[in-house]
Amino acid sequence: MTDKTASLKTTSGDFTYPLLNGSVGPDVVDIRKFYGDTGMFTYDPGFTSTASCQSAITYIDGDQGILLHRGFPIDQLAEKSNFMEVAYLLLHGDLPKQKELDEFSYTITRHTMVHEQLATFYRGFRRDAHPMAIMCGVVGALSAFYHDSTDITDPQQRLIASHRLIAKMPTLAAMAFKYSVGQPFLYPQNGLSYTGNFLRLTFGVPAEPYEINPIVEKAMERIFILHADHEQNASTSTVRLAGSSGANPFACIAAGIACLWGPAHGGANEAALNMLREIGTVKRIPEYIARAKDKNDPFRLMGFGHRVYKNYDPRAKVMQATAQAVLKELNISDPVLDVAQELEQIALHDEYFIEKKLYPNVDFYSGVILNAIGFPTEMFTVLFAIARTVGWVAQWNEMISDPEQKIGRPRQLYVGATQRDYVPVKER
Ligand code: SDX
Repeated sequence: MTDKTASLKTTSGDFTYPLLNGSVGPDVVDIRKFYGDTGMFTYDPGFTSTASCQSAITYIDGDQGILLHRGFPIDQLAEKSNFMEVAYLLLHGDLPKQKELDEFSYTITRHTMVHEQLATFYRGFRRDAHPMAIMCGVVGALSAFYHDSTDITDPQQRLIASHRLIAKMPTLAAMAFKYSVGQPFLYPQNGLSYTGNFLRLTFGVPAEPYEINPIVEKAMERIFILHADHEQNASTSTVRLAGSSGANPFACIAAGIACLWGPAHGGANEAALNMLREIGTVKRIPEYIARAKDKNDPFRLMGFGHRVYKNYDPRAKVMQATAQAVLKELNISDPVLDVAQELEQIALHDEYFIEKKLYPNVDFYSGVILNAIGFPTEMFTVLFAIARTVGWVAQWNEMISDPEQKIGRPRQLYVGATQRDYVPVKER
């Protein structure tokens, strides 16, 4: 709370509202009494100027291109940490001591298997089903198997459900990939790292041992860290809204997966690589830049622009460096990376993109790395969902524990028909 206020003059009187300040970032105007005072609603489609909650998990300064997780800069975490440590940090608020990290990793590892009957869910899908469609289905179905961790009023059950979701997402995701290529499902191996286990579940086969490439494992760790959480983005807000009704955590995460799938959000990594492939060569870039600028053309540069970042997305910087390193270390030359880097250079010097402050976001380079590792484009958003489950679960837990939270129920500006009487069909 501050002693500062915001005043509003309206035809029905003058009103004053308190300003609340956080530890860093913009103050907020506390308008919870606004409708009761004024009989009016505020109007903010897309919530461009609305803070939906208090949170201590992630801070973004879009103008400076700053991203902090519990105060730690994303580039330091990507460089020095690992995904289990970042998961602990997001969930519990501080970097773990070695013993805490070991216990957390041990717990997550022992929740990576899924109920054997879940495998039958996959057989109900067509082999060419999009893996995000499968993930929406099977993650929601988890609530039919883990009744002992769906009571959201019990902190212990919330913690077990959180561990189960973080642990089982890679297993379910790998099963979706295996099903699409007609290969048998593998079982997790507890001696592997979280990321190593996922790589083996995805690319391993029962016929021979799978050797984890340390370059690939480190790149995947970094990609998971870069995607772990991102303040109140669309899918996190979906998870919070679903959770605000008391829905069980498995259903809430399934809702987040559904929202993430959209091409304006997590689906952009798949769309960005498809776009770069369609452009194909550097000489075709001007044609697509022109289309992106054409108001009459719905085409947008996928992987470019962001609601919050009006500067370079700090994750994109790390992702580009990782893409260059991984392709070099794996001795892969992918013309798509050349197209991406040239497209970025041209766009960043173009008046339209400069004026609208459009920069590459987290999705612009990730597909180059994922493609080099061997994932099909349809799996890209699934990988985003694996990582973001950590953020969704942390934000869900924070919401449930927040005494100020209540069921989310926005209002509207009604522009439909005013009251009128029913007309029998013969008189219409
Ligand atoms: C993610 O919220 C998060 O934090 C999300 C995320 C996370 O980690 O959770 O960071 C992950 O979703 C990243 C964003 C991935 N999406 C894309 O890359 C899709 C392409 N980008 C756009 O669709 C767009 O930039 C959004 C959706 C990301 C942001 O859209 P906004 O904030 O609603 O901005 P807008 O659509 O109002 O655009 C502002 C202007 C518009 O022009 P005008 O109408 O003002 O003339 O910029 C233009 C847009 O036409 N514009 C683009 C553009 N993005 C915006 N023009 C061309 N290409 C683009 N990519």
